[in-house]
Amino acid sequence: MAKPINLAVLISGGGSTLQNLIDKISEGTLLAHIKIVISSSPDAYGLKRAKQRGIPATIVQKSGYDTSQTFSDAIVQEIEKYQIDLVILAGFLHLFKIPDSYVGKVMNIHPALIPAFCGKGYYGSRVHKAVIGSGVKISGCTVHFVDNEYDTGPIIIQRVVPVLDEDSPETLAQRVFTAETVAYPEAIRLFAEGRLQIVGRRVNTLKAEPT
Ligand code: GAR
Repeated sequence: MAKPINLAVLISGGGSTLQNLIDKISEGTLLAHIKIVISSSPDAYGLKRAKQRGIPATIVQKSGYDTSQTFSDAIVQEIEKYQIDLVILAGFLHLFKIPDSYVGKVMNIHPALIPAFCGKGYYGSRVHKAVIGSGVKISGCTVHFVDNEYDTGPIIIQRVVPVLDEDSPETLAQRVFTAETVAYPEAIRLFAEGRLQIVGRRVNTLKAEPT
């Protein structure tokens, strides 16, 4: 039987992505343990979600550090208190500068089709407002490995949803989030099965081993 992988989850706010992972783990459709939740805000509702489930949680606030580097180093220190296989950014709104040894071991989900509508300042409803304002007919979500910039790392999975004429940022966000609830667990499963191979900017998905 496959061994669960250990996750560290970084949040800044509501923790809807964290909740999705908690739900998938309890349903048994994602074989993982969330070992630690790290929040950049003491007020993040995601901290309550972690507490309700008895998941250890800690706060590392950006305001306590002069640079993205020292802030990220403090996060790494927290992660390294546990044996973590994969770090999950789940609505984490800061640049996380990763050590070289973390390359290919940190994922993010973005609520649009990268390389469109992404980068610094594109988060939450701002993304969906920009998508609707631009007139594009499709949007979606992107799971990617994290490098040391905003939303530029190699893409693992994208799922597409339509943008409807009558959409508000809220209705579009809901449709995209439904796609996210499938895409993120799927990317984590592929990682756990050792099926993600980074080749330059591409992530190739290897075929499943016959059982
Ligand atoms: C998710 O929809 C995720 O795609 C988005 O934040 C939401 C989770 O936030 N992430 C970004 O916009 C990152 N650029 P929550 O934890 O506050 O509910």
